[in-house]
Amino acid sequence: MSIFITFEGIEGSGKSTQISLLADHLSEQKIPFISTREPGGSDIGKKVRKLLLSTENTEITSRTELLLYAADRAQHVEQVIQPALARGKVVLCDRFSDATIAYQGYARGLELELIHSLNSLATGGIKPDLTFLIDCPVETGIGRALKRGEAEGSDEMRFEKEALSFHAKVLEGYKQIAQNEPERISVIDGSMPIGAIHNSIIELFSKRYARATSSRECCKIEL
Ligand code: TMP
Repeated sequence: MSIFITFEGIEGSGKSTQISLLADHLSEQKIPFISTREPGGSDIGKKVRKLLLSTENTEITSRTELLLYAADRAQHVEQVIQPALARGKVVLCDRFSDATIAYQGYARGLELELIHSLNSLATGGIKPDLTFLIDCPVETGIGRALKRGEAEGSDEMRFEKEALSFHAKVLEGYKQIAQNEPERISVIDGSMPIGAIHNSIIELFSKRYARATSSRECCKIEL
């Protein structure tokens, strides 16, 4: 049963851990799925990711940044997400369109209308069915992300190196987006223990999955 699920939050909020725990759950339940991410979910996207995140690329302008995220998304949707959904898979995606609204819109200050138009061009109209926003204090998340990046000797630290005030705007932006779409976006308290966060996610996922399965059964009966 195809469902498109996205995970959002600031760096170091624990998204990746939660995605891999949900992926383990889906494997155990024998539910077909793919796990992917933005930027970098396609082969072309991996090259775009390097451009976008390399710590050296400080001269990228905000509009160039916006267009590169849109380009990455267009390739990702067409080559990876759409085909997986068409084959009836659950798609788990680490960041999607909401990230562009939060980062390039609320934090960089680019016009939200423009971002919405670009998002609809890049996604071909695809929207997540369910989004988990992991709400984590900025100091905790960014502190964790910087430590991890330094320990791994990562070269993909362009955003982690932004000021805390930038990340605070990102988080505020995400909260605003969640307020506008409470049906789709569940805000999860990221300060809970990992297991408790996972349980909340499983509960919300299971409800959504059951709803998708039963509406599919209804359609079959009507046909
Ligand atoms: P991450 O996948 O390692 O979290 O890195 C992705 C970075 O890209 C993260 O700092 C957020 C940023 N980003 C945007 O600014 N806009 C976007 O549309 C997306 C998908 C990510």
